[in-house]
Amino acid sequence: MGSPKIFIQGKALLDKIRADFMGLDTFYENAHGEKTKRIYLDSTASSLMLRPAAKIMAEFMDHYSNTHSKLHHSAHISTAAYDWAHQRVLSFVGADPDLYTCFFTGAGTTSGINRMARVLRDVNPGKNTAIISIMEHHSNDLPHRKHMENVFHIPVESLDQNRMCISLPKLEEVLKDYAGRVNYVSITAVSNVTGIINPIHDIARLAHKYGALIMVDGAQSVAHLPTKMFFADDPDACIDALVFSGHKTYTPGSPGVVVARKDHLLSIEPEEVGGGMVERVLEDHYQVKDHFPDREEAGTQNIPGAVALAATLEILDRIGMNLLVEEEDQIMARALEGMKKIPELIVYGGTDLKSCPRAASISFNVKGLEHGIVAALLNDYFNIAVRNQCFCAHPYVKEMMAEDLEKEFGIIDFGNMSPEFMRKAGMVRVSFGLYSRFEDVDALITALKDIILNIDKYALEYEINAENDFEHLTYHLDHKNIFNIPGAVDKYFDN
Ligand SMILES: Cc1ncc(COP(=O)(O)O)c(C=O)c1O
Repeated sequence: MGSPKIFIQGKALLDKIRADFMGLDTFYENAHGEKTKRIYLDSTASSLMLRPAAKIMAEFMDHYSNTHSKLHHSAHISTAAYDWAHQRVLSFVGADPDLYTCFFTGAGTTSGINRMARVLRDVNPGKNTAIISIMEHHSNDLPHRKHMENVFHIPVESLDQNRMCISLPKLEEVLKDYAGRVNYVSITAVSNVTGIINPIHDIARLAHKYGALIMVDGAQSVAHLPTKMFFADDPDACIDALVFSGHKTYTPGSPGVVVARKDHLLSIEPEEVGGGMVERVLEDHYQVKDHFPDREEAGTQNIPGAVALAATLEILDRIGMNLLVEEEDQIMARALEGMKKIPELIVYGGTDLKSCPRAASISFNVKGLEHGIVAALLNDYFNIAVRNQCFCAHPYVKEMMAEDLEKEFGIIDFGNMSPEFMRKAGMVRVSFGLYSRFEDVDALITALKDIILNIDKYALEYEINAENDFEHLTYHLDHKNIFNIPGAVDKYFDN
């Protein structure tokens, strides 16, 4: 008998897969007419796909079938893989499978938060208030406004302290004032604007102390930080519901994910009804399954996407999330150090990672420049993909830019849709994934210095187009020529 095979893990696995993402070798011609490799610094919007997950999904497709079918071989294989995907999520987020279930939703976090807002509203109909913070993505704000009667926005800590994470004293004040009426607190674990990390377990303790539940928007945390929802010896620190997106967890094309407590879900009829979640349907009544996750997953789900996501989570776990944190901290530290040395930059949020822990995202502006021109120049001349504007987080961006905007526009009103205001009210965001390298950061810093030095020359090359975006006067990459679906079909059959 041979010794059991030891599979690669930890740092060795990280080193092996770090370059194995789809889209790391994408070349575009820049405004100088040179073909260069794209540097992808927009991972907070959507991260690149881990190639092994894509390959594992392709292997699974040979056995793909609907999991509602029962007896043929492929149905057995698909059902087992899909079941395993749920278990994989639960263990990845440290949720006790006896107490929690996982179910997949639409395309991302948004559908999961909408769903859970409705669920928690119905679980505790007497409590009509939700507490969120001003640093939330609109997807962790508008669903609560729509489904709950009252929503409070907790401010962030003072600008002076430069921390910009949720103010715990203010949260406690509101919880106390509205004790008995607060259904849940819903908070992002990591800001999609600054990358600032919120103390979600301290927030959970406060929520529970005042009889409220805690939901965490994990869209920006699950791929970057270890997640633990359940503590047997510290029930107050437990998270009642967690929602995240596969496409921000290195698996585009995979579903959104909800992890929630079974007792909450069991106390109401599932929000979504249809095939797959019922035992029996008669003309005058139907009997809902009590088995999870079936009762929460009406209709045929995104089975291949769930399988791919589970493969990604398995790989991340084999690397170890603590190791990923160490590696990503080095990237963040290098970026923040480099940016701090450029006096023309305003970096939002604290830049010392010890006093202000952050993950993955950094938003900034170049003094005197509109965010749009900086993002356009980074793209057109340096092939660096970044995001600009307000990142679906208007209240938080407004808070951080208030002083500067007030100086220029007087009383600021984010309802102001004038083109001038829109071009000023926003930031540039760079964001990283586990494939990001020091070279990417260094290229960004070099590019920013070049832009600042040569802005007068560069500015002559741009006009503002009908969409209020900066557009180069002569450089227009023909995107349709690079990829279009019928062209790709033609190419596929051209042999
Ligand atoms: C913190 C946060 N929450 C929610 C969302 C919405 O995620 P999705 O687009 O996957 O629905 C995002 C997307 O950027 C986000 O960053």
